[in-house]
Amino acid sequence: MKLDQSALNSFWMPFTGNRDFKQAPRIVVRAKGMYMYDDNGKEILDGSSGLFCSPLGHCRDEINAAVSAQMAELDYVAPFQTAHPLGFKFAERLAGMLPETINHVFFANSGSESVDTAMKIAYAYHYARGEGQRIRFASRERAYHGVNMGGVSLSGMIKNRQAFGPGVPGVVHMRHTWQSENRFTRGQAETGGKELADDLERIALNYGPDTIAACFVEPIAGSTGCLVPPKGYLERLREICDEHGILLIFDEVITGFGRTGKPFAADAFGVIPDIMTLAKALTNAALPMGAVAASDKVHDAIFNAAPEKAIELFHGYTYSAHPAACAAGLATMDLFEKENSFAAADSLSEYFLDGMFSLSDLPIVTDIRGYGLLAGFDLVPGDAPGMRGLEVQKALFHAGLNLKMTGDSGLLAPPFIAEKSHIDQIVERLRGVLGAI
Ligand SMILES: Cc1ncc(COP(=O)(O)O)c(C=O)c1O
Repeated sequence: MKLDQSALNSFWMPFTGNRDFKQAPRIVVRAKGMYMYDDNGKEILDGSSGLFCSPLGHCRDEINAAVSAQMAELDYVAPFQTAHPLGFKFAERLAGMLPETINHVFFANSGSESVDTAMKIAYAYHYARGEGQRIRFASRERAYHGVNMGGVSLSGMIKNRQAFGPGVPGVVHMRHTWQSENRFTRGQAETGGKELADDLERIALNYGPDTIAACFVEPIAGSTGCLVPPKGYLERLREICDEHGILLIFDEVITGFGRTGKPFAADAFGVIPDIMTLAKALTNAALPMGAVAASDKVHDAIFNAAPEKAIELFHGYTYSAHPAACAAGLATMDLFEKENSFAAADSLSEYFLDGMFSLSDLPIVTDIRGYGLLAGFDLVPGDAPGMRGLEVQKALFHAGLNLKMTGDSGLLAPPFIAEKSHIDQIVERLRGVLGAI
C-alpha cells in the first residue's frame, strides 16, 4: 500500500523530521521474528528490537493468541473501584521476578507515564511520612526519562526540554557518566565511579539533604548511547541515598527484562533501588504498557498513612492494567521463562560485544560502549549535530538494518532470539555503511 500526500501530511510523526521523512518515507508493513519488511518487500534486520521493546522478536503467535482470547472474553473494565483477574495475576508474576524487597506494581501505559507515576509515588511517600518538604529530584545530564512533564524535567537532553517551558521545579542534575578517557571500554570502566556519584552528596549538602525526594537514574543511560556506569557508581549512589533518606529510583524501561543478561539491571549490578520504572519489553511491544514497581517500604508508608477505606494514592489511568495488555504481558513472561530468554541474552552478549568492538578501527567511529545485549557507538559529527546520524540511519535502513540513532550516536539491542549469524549480519551492515563514509 503506497501512501498519498494527504495521508503523509495528516500524520504528525513523533521524534521525526516530518518534512524530510515524507520526501522519501521508510514504511514498514509487516514483521516476523528478527525481520521487518518495507512496502517494497525489502527485508530489514531489526538490530534494536524495535525501540528496545521486542526482545522475543516480532509477531509472536503465543502473545497474539493470548491478546485475542482476552479481547473476546473481556475487552475493558474501569480500573478504578473495579478490576479484572489478570491485573492481579500479572502484578504477582512481576513481583516474583523483581528484587526481593520490591513487591508492589502500579500499571501505566508507557515508560513516560511510569516515570511521572514514580515521581508522584516518591512525593507521596515523603508526604505520608511527614516530610513533604522533600520536593527535589536529583537526575543526571544525558538522562532520558520519557516525554511527559516530569520525565522531561528529569531529562538531561537539551532539545527535549528547551521548547517546553519551565518544567517541574526542583530538579538538579548530576554529571553524566561518559568519560572521554574511558572511550572504547567494554562493560564498566574501572575509574570515576565514586567521584561521579559523589555529585549526589554535593547536591544533598548544597540544597539540604532533607529537601531531596529521590535520585532518579537509568542504571545504564540508554537513549543517549548506552552509557555504562563505572564500577562503584551505583553502589555509591545507594550509600548516599541511605545516608540521607533519599529514595533511589532506577528507570529500567530499557534495561529491564534481560537486556543486561539478568532479569533487571538491579540484579546485574547488585544494587537494589526503592522504586523501578518498567515498560518496553513488558509486553514484547505487542501492546503499550508501563509499570512502576515499589518496595514494601515505599508502599507500606503510603498505605499506612491513609485512613481505612480511603484511596491511598490519588493517581491512575483509564487504561491502567488494561486486560489485553495484561494478557500480552503474561504471555511475554511465559515465553521469557520457556525460552530461558535472559540466559540466552547473557550467553550471546560476549559474541555481540566482540562484533561491535570489531568496528573500533573505523575512522568515523569515535567511541564504542556495551553491556549485555546493548551497545552504543559515536560518530564524528557532520555539518550540524545529528545530521551524520540521520544520514547513517537512512543508509542502514536501505542496507537492511534497523537501529536507534540519537543525534550522532547509534544503539544496537538485538532481540534475545538472535543467532550468531544475525549478529554477523548486524556487524557486516554497520561496517558496510560506516566504512563507506
Ligand atoms: C529510560 C527510559 N525511560 C522512559 C522512556 C519513555 O518510554 P515511552 O517512550 O514508552 O514513553 C524511555 C524510552 O525510550 C526510556 O528509555
